[in-house]
Amino acid sequence: MADTRRVAVVTGGVGGLGEAICRRLADEHFTVVALHQPGNGKVKDWLATYKAQGYDFGSEPVDVSQFDSCATAMAAVRKRYGPVSVLVNNAGITRDASFRKMTLDDWNSVLRTNLDSVFHMTKTVIEDMLTLGWGRVINISSVNGQRGAFGQANYAASKAGMHGFTKSLALEFAKKGITVNTISPGYLRTPMVTKVPPEVLAQRILPEIPLGRLGEPDEVAELVAFLASERSTFITGANLSINGGQHMF
Ligand code: CAA
Repeated sequence: MADTRRVAVVTGGVGGLGEAICRRLADEHFTVVALHQPGNGKVKDWLATYKAQGYDFGSEPVDVSQFDSCATAMAAVRKRYGPVSVLVNNAGITRDASFRKMTLDDWNSVLRTNLDSVFHMTKTVIEDMLTLGWGRVINISSVNGQRGAFGQANYAASKAGMHGFTKSLALEFAKKGITVNTISPGYLRTPMVTKVPPEVLAQRILPEIPLGRLGEPDEVAELVAFLASERSTFITGANLSINGGQHMF
């Protein structure tokens, strides 16, 4: 019998927050395809480890900063698994530097990977969702897109830009069965955050978090799973904060 489960695609799906999202969506019975950077040598073992635990993830290499790479990857996904119902735009990088030290390359690489990617990926799957008459686009932004952060002019701009995109698409597709939302996590226990200098983390960041700890990727994945589900029918154009109280507005 053909697999009639919905297909969910997660960019930056191998490792970090993306990995938790993949697991949680699979638990919700989606067919999950983890997109990852071309040349990531860990993918084979990663897939095998999860397969042994009962998670049969698909995977596809993609450079999300390049439109053609996204189009090629999504054509392969569609051919193998069918039309895509859920897109989680999760891939992101940091190149933190105070503004005077930030190079044009720091700016361009972060904007292209974090923000251009959202256009590229959504553009290549939206027709699937329109054909199905059902879809969920979930953009993973950041608390620092909501409030700014010292040393993150590039990252904060890219993450704030995502939500403008979310709101516009939410308007355009509201009547087509497609919801578009942003999630803005705070500081999570992921490799991206553990790259922050330890003294900055201990002295500046943790004291700002009322809950007194980093968030867990699984806590954010839970919210993604809810937004991706049939239980979430009246939420669109939202920017949902999940940051341990670090930023309230
Ligand atoms: N607030 C105020 N002042 C700060 C500051 C802060 N958060 N961080 C540094 N400064 C000050 C220093 O005290 C120092 O002051 P003095 O010159 O008076 O001594 C000055 O800025 C140092 O400036 P530099 O340009 O020399 O900075 P640097 O090269 O030492 O490094 C930095 C600056 C790269 C921003 C470094 O502090 C850093 O990595 N900070 C963490 C940035 C951060 O939070 N990144 C988040 C990554 S995780 C993520 O992004 C996930 C997510 O979505 C949340």
